[in-house]
Formats: sequence, structure tokens, C-alpha cells
Amino acid sequence: MSETTDRLASIERDALVALAAAEDDAGIEGWRTRVLGRSGELTSVLRGIGGLAAEERKAVGAEANRVKAVLEAALEGRREGLRRAALASAEADALDVTLPGRPLRRGRLHPITQVRRRILDVFERLGFQVIEGPEVELDAYNFGALRIPEHHPARDMWDTFWFEDDRVASAAAAGTSEGGAPSSARSPLLLRTHTSPMQVRFMEQHEPPIRVAVPGKCYRYEATDATHEWMLEQVELLAIDEGISMANLKGTLQEWARQMFGPSRRVMLRNSYFPFVEPGVEVAVDCFQCPGDDPSCAVCRGSGWLELMGAGMVHPEIIAAQGYDPERYTGFAAGMGVERVAMVLLGVSDIRDFHANDPRFLEQF
Ligand code: DAH
Repeated sequence: MSETTDRLASIERDALVALAAAEDDAGIEGWRTRVLGRSGELTSVLRGIGGLAAEERKAVGAEANRVKAVLEAALEGRREGLRRAALASAEADALDVTLPGRPLRRGRLHPITQVRRRILDVFERLGFQVIEGPEVELDAYNFGALRIPEHHPARDMWDTFWFEDDRVASAAAAGTSEGGAPSSARSPLLLRTHTSPMQVRFMEQHEPPIRVAVPGKCYRYEATDATHEWMLEQVELLAIDEGISMANLKGTLQEWARQMFGPSRRVMLRNSYFPFVEPGVEVAVDCFQCPGDDPSCAVCRGSGWLELMGAGMVHPEIIAAQGYDPERYTGFAAGMGVERVAMVLLGVSDIRDFHANDPRFLEQF
């Protein structure tokens, strides 16, 4: 092996390694000048061949040409490889404007929100103003001012969640009504069990005539099942004016029922007891699903009626406690569960589905 052949071998080896490392056009062009260019390494070997001894000249010349051909082919191969890679990455990044767009998943209102709005729409058309009140409530409003004193058995119907911090409670109690002394044994702050306390809160701040509808969340300390949840929504109704009678209560609820459930609906008032009304009634609507005698009916179970709310004439003591003359002013009140209305309206059989947050349930409405 001559010195020149050794050199050719090392040029070939080094050049191939360097070429593989060239990452772009500039790198390849630099390599080409360095290796194959006019003053490149290989060219200088080729130029020197003429000065070699005759017997060496032929072999070295052939070897040099072979190396040159190998390197030129490698250069072409490398160029082609880089071009393909560039194309592939451009394709990967490309935006194909002809592809169909990704569907936008539109949200929807929660079924309870939909039904609450329907309920309130009707009452608003009937002249009721929609107001809201606190979910964290004082014992004095939730119970005391509604004539449900401590130890009254009616409290069993409304067991709830109590707050333990008496300082929070006394701060909240400052500036509230005299009505119903807060319990001293227990903190007087609780999660309200119904929207009825807003009857008193609103009367304290306003003069008759009053017509309000009060939506809001309520809480009960309760074992849950298909018809009981520890959180529920209610809508409360209160109307106070001169000459308000039971007929106004029935007429209002009948019109509401017709707009909610159909124009031929009837309402039935049945005697009941709630400490804050006298007389108190339970309000039922005749079944809109069956003729009223189908035992397999999911809405009324064959009874023909569905219980929807409690109501009654506001107790004169409560009217008097607000400083209104109970001989002059009378009023009615009613309270209904939004979930209950939603269940019969939407055909839902388990109240727990509403707040379980399962899209498969919620997307149906
Ligand atoms: N607050 C009662 C409850 O949650 C429902 C109720 C009954 C509301 C009679 C009223 C009413 O306004 O007059 O069970």
C-alpha cells in the first residue's frame, strides 16, 4: 500500500463521517467544497497523480476515481435524504383547510335551571318580582320568626346542618329582627331548610302590596333516596295586600299549573299544617300523564293527583310581627320543590340523578 492509497482511504472514511453529520444545505455545501471542490482534499490527490511513478500511477488513479465516485454518490444520497425529511416535516405541520372542523361541544343549562326558569317565568307574568336570599340563615328566620320555636315537633321535618362558630353567628345576628329568639344551646346559624325565611326578611324591608317569588337552594339533614336529597331547590311565593284571600291563592296556583302542565289542569287544596300559615294546605295538580286511574303511571301512580307544594294564608301573627295591621292586610304563601316539579315534567325517577353530575344524564335535557 502506498502512502497515497492510505491517504485516499482516510479521506474516504473521514468524508463519509462528516457527510452524515451535515444537517442542512449549508453543511452539505461546505462539505462539498472541502472534499470535492477545486482546492479540496481529493482534488489535490488527483492532481498529484501525474507526478507518481508510472507503475503506481495506474492503481492510485483507479482508486482515486473510485473514491471520488463513492463520495459523489454519497453526496447525492445525503441531499436527497435531507430533502425528503424537510418535506415530511412540512407535511406534518401543514394545515389542511379542507378537513371538517372539530365539532364544538356546546354546553346547556342544567335541567334544574331550565325548570326553575320556567316556574319563575310564569310567576313573573303573573306579577311576582323575583328576589333571592341567604342560604346560610339564622335560626331566628328559618324557624323562630316562622312560629317554629325550639323543641317544636315541626322542627323534625326540617333537620339541617348547623354552624358551630358562635362568633360568626352573633356577628350575623346583629341588626336582625327581634322575632324568634335564637337558640342559646345551639349556634343560631344554619343552612336554611326552606325559602320561607325570605317571607319575613322581605316583609321587614318592604311595605305591602308585596308579590315576590324566591328561588334558592335549601338543605336538609336527610338520608337520601330516590325522592330525598340533602340539597334541593325551592321556589317560595308571597303575596300580601288588602283583601287577599284563599281564592287568590288557588287562582294563582291554578294559572301557574296550567301554564306549566297544560291548559286543562286543575288544582286541589287539601288541609295540612305548617306553623307559619293558617289555614295551611297541600296543593296537588291533576295528573297530566294519564286519565288518573292508571296504577302504572309514573307521574301519579294511579292516584290521579300529584302533590307539588305546601301553601296557606300567612299567619296573622307573622303579619302583625312586621308591623302591618293584620285586620287590614292578609296574604298567601306557597313553597314548592323545583326538583319535584322537574321530575314530573321531565320524567325523572331518581332525584339523585340531578346532582350526580353525569353527562349521560344531563345531556338528555
Ligand atoms: N317551607 C315549607 C317546606 O319547605 C313549604 C311551605 C309550606 C311553604 C307552606 C309555604 C307554605 O310558603 O305556606 O316544607
